[in-house]
Amino acid sequence: MDLFRKKVIQPERVTNLKKELKLKDLIMLGIGAIIGTGIFVVTGAASVEYAGPALILSFVIAGIVVVLSGLSFAEFASRIPVLGGAYSYLYVVFGEFIAWLAGWFLICEFLLAVSSVASGWSGYVQGFLASADIYLPTALTAGYDPSKGTYIDLIAGLVIVFVTLWVSQEAKKALRLNNAMVWVKFAIIALFIVFGVFFVEPTNWQPFMPFGFSGVFNGAALVFFAFLGFDAVAMAAEEVEDAKKNVPRGIIGSIAIATVLYIVVTLILTGIVPYTELGVSDPVAFAMRYINHGVVGSIISVGAILTLLTVTIAMMYSLARLLYAISKDGLLPRFMQDVDPKQQTPKKATYVAGAFALFFAAAFPLNILAELTNIAALSYLILMSLGIIKLRKMLGEPQKGEFKVPFVPVLPLISVASCLFLMTRLQMTTWIVFAITLVIGVVIYFVYGYRHSALQEMEDPSKM
Ligand code: ALA
Repeated sequence: MDLFRKKVIQPERVTNLKKELKLKDLIMLGIGAIIGTGIFVVTGAASVEYAGPALILSFVIAGIVVVLSGLSFAEFASRIPVLGGAYSYLYVVFGEFIAWLAGWFLICEFLLAVSSVASGWSGYVQGFLASADIYLPTALTAGYDPSKGTYIDLIAGLVIVFVTLWVSQEAKKALRLNNAMVWVKFAIIALFIVFGVFFVEPTNWQPFMPFGFSGVFNGAALVFFAFLGFDAVAMAAEEVEDAKKNVPRGIIGSIAIATVLYIVVTLILTGIVPYTELGVSDPVAFAMRYINHGVVGSIISVGAILTLLTVTIAMMYSLARLLYAISKDGLLPRFMQDVDPKQQTPKKATYVAGAFALFFAAAFPLNILAELTNIAALSYLILMSLGIIKLRKMLGEPQKGEFKVPFVPVLPLISVASCLFLMTRLQMTTWIVFAITLVIGVVIYFVYGYRHSALQEMEDPSKM
């Protein structure tokens, strides 16, 4: 049994697609996938329960951890410009088993992110309906939490059904919509900042750190979620003009823009509303209602409803493509690589993604979903940082023009330590669910993946 059999990069794969994306397109793609529920929804719970106004520090810490991981991503993307992101990179450096684990963590990350964003979307829709005095029965307003009387998040479930059907039919159109929506996103954030700044009461920033440093770190582990999606930029590597330079710049650029916006929005949000009152599902719009500017709140709600929908679409799109790619390598059942002859989309993979996302979105509350997304993402980012150390052993130092992580192996090791640190700040429940997920992933590999892998087929066709 060879758990570490490796894939080689096939040059023809690298040149298949048209290279037409520029740095600007990449940054738009990154921002489109990054800015969503994290800032529009999760900030509320994160400041009430964890960090208070010091949530800005949590964002800075999470941002630093993301940038450290982003550097490894950037070097991989610049030196191994193939589609598929982390999963494909690690297939080349660590071989199949580790690549599968990374792929499995990525599947979990995307799946849970789709569900989380749908759940956040539901919060905004319900906030908007409430402003028109329309309420759903409590049992149907959020995921399973009997202490609050909630069982199923009906709206999150419905949006998953809609997005699954949409992505299986109109993938390209849906992504184009995503780019347009980035401008809507910038517009509502700008509106919030420019309008909100006049209503800031500095006394609301006192006490600044009500839960101490511990709260700040716990907050960072939760709002790490807000940065996920930066890897979408690396996913597009094969279609990028001068990928070696532009992909790293796109990754670091979109993370930098997101970090600045997050810090400013959080500063204003906690300056307008005392942090103790932010335990709502649509905090950014709520802040406007709080200062009696309900109309501005409604504009922000509508903007958030539109943009969060496209984040869900982008995540579902990536998830379906990831399932498709892994299934093509034989590590998941092959029916998922079927491409619909008419719409040219991996329909079956999309339906599988949709079915699982539906379950999670309807049944689990947002905070649990966001934490689970984070633990899965942090796990594969650890593998990525270790991967850079291995990549240097395999291919040596980057050539001129390729992106270079400075201070290898020290910086990747700091990145591993910082990801591990954030993981330790997540709740026990998150760890238990994660452990179960990990076991399921390993079992799938040994029961199915190893025997059906395309590499197995090459080694021993009779075993297929
Ligand atoms: N970063 C994405 C969001 O916050 C997942 O919605």
